[in-house]
Amino acid sequence: MTGPLKLPPGPAYGATNQLLRYSFRPIEFLEECAARYGETFTLRLAGFGTLVQLTRPDDIRDVFKGDSTILHAGEGNALLSSVVGASSVLVLDEKPHVRQRKAMLPPLKGDRMRTFFDAMQGEALTVAEQWSGAGFVRADKAMQTITLRVILRASLGLQPGPEFDQMQHTMARLLMHVRHPLALVMWNLFPLDRYENSRVLPFYRMRRKFDSMLFENFARQRAMDPDDRPECLLKDLMVATYDDGSTMTDNELRDAIVTVLAAGHDTTALALAWAFELILAQPDVVSRIEAELDEVAGGALPSIEQIPQLIYLDAVVRESLRVRNVIPFIVRVLKEDFSVGGFAYPSNVVLCPSIHLLHMREDLYPEPLRFRPDRFLERKFAPHEWIPFGGGNRACLGQAFAVYEMKVVLATLFASLRMERKPGAVSRPVRRGISIGPSDGALLRVVERRRNNS
Ligand code: HEM
Repeated sequence: MTGPLKLPPGPAYGATNQLLRYSFRPIEFLEECAARYGETFTLRLAGFGTLVQLTRPDDIRDVFKGDSTILHAGEGNALLSSVVGASSVLVLDEKPHVRQRKAMLPPLKGDRMRTFFDAMQGEALTVAEQWSGAGFVRADKAMQTITLRVILRASLGLQPGPEFDQMQHTMARLLMHVRHPLALVMWNLFPLDRYENSRVLPFYRMRRKFDSMLFENFARQRAMDPDDRPECLLKDLMVATYDDGSTMTDNELRDAIVTVLAAGHDTTALALAWAFELILAQPDVVSRIEAELDEVAGGALPSIEQIPQLIYLDAVVRESLRVRNVIPFIVRVLKEDFSVGGFAYPSNVVLCPSIHLLHMREDLYPEPLRFRPDRFLERKFAPHEWIPFGGGNRACLGQAFAVYEMKVVLATLFASLRMERKPGAVSRPVRRGISIGPSDGALLRVVERRRNNS
């Protein structure tokens, strides 16, 4: 093993104090530590261990390429199993992770996303019709409604109706618990394996209610001729086979579907809310989005064929995911000693490629605080230089879905409406469960309608 044995520098005060600072001012805390301790620093967060923040692209590349039997992401996400279940790809490592990831990959592949275009555009149009212009609205709430309805339609093939409404309502209530600032502490105190059947804890009661609705849905879809099942992730997952030829049990299907619902809904909604916050602050960016939409779609709503032609909008989405990340860093728990960036780390240390601090590097992104989509038209960034979706063997399975949904929703709303931010509004990054969202919800208002969609 090479390099000094001591860990990189970091705050000397206690782990509880560090956890509180991270909990209440996550981004400011990370930035202050980077300014004080340099490119690589060590945090101690009570209940979460020793976390080394990595911000150098080469170190992040080495972690992404590292041996997955040594670098465990699933163990780092273990607390999430209360929501997503013990067989979720998010919380597994090594062979069980590979097995589950292989089954989930094909239905989430890039070209498959086009199947969900109608759901994405339809839900965005519903919001466009509801935004009247009378007052300011929270973009985050509206985006949560869109992304929840889209992911329910995409994962279960639900059509608008009573079952859809009930699932939406129950899932929204379940996710309220997930977003609670103390959610992680609660799951730590009351883990799934011991409290799953609790009648007292509201989270587990809600979880059981949602599960029984899911199992009913599975039974109905299993009873159908496969050709008659609605186009959705469930349809693909029901016929996906593992290497030994077996298919997913109902419990595995449950965990896969809830993983997609939980991992894919709030993240995309908050990323969209941040995108509005950034775009509407810059009239030149709004003008270029509108000009591109007019050129490509000629004043109509963009069609499924036209979405890939929106090159500037694609850069807008990428730049907004760079400037405002929903997940500030990712985690890899070391199972053995591991060396990177001149340090030799012992097992149990958690290595954390820092999404936020990497994206704020002046040498990679000159004037890093500036929202400038053109930088994504001027050069290509390597997979370890732009990492809103993490990387390596654990890269987000929903990246294609999320980027496509962001483009369809933004294209539909900017083609339909002219909007403005509340003058003087400030959106501070605040924690919502494990994600980071805008403190004011990214308040905006409709100024005029660009087209009548009816
Ligand atoms: C803007 C929206 C999203 C962001 C910013 C985001 C970000 C992330 C990040 C940072 C990770 C961890 C990667 C790592 O450890 O290297 C991740 C994992 C994951 N995401 Fe996403 N995600 C988004 C949307 C979605 C969507 C829409 C889905 C599903 C349709 C999804 C499903 C998953 C899954 C299943 C994993 C676990 C992959 C594994 O452990 O192998 N995500 N995501």
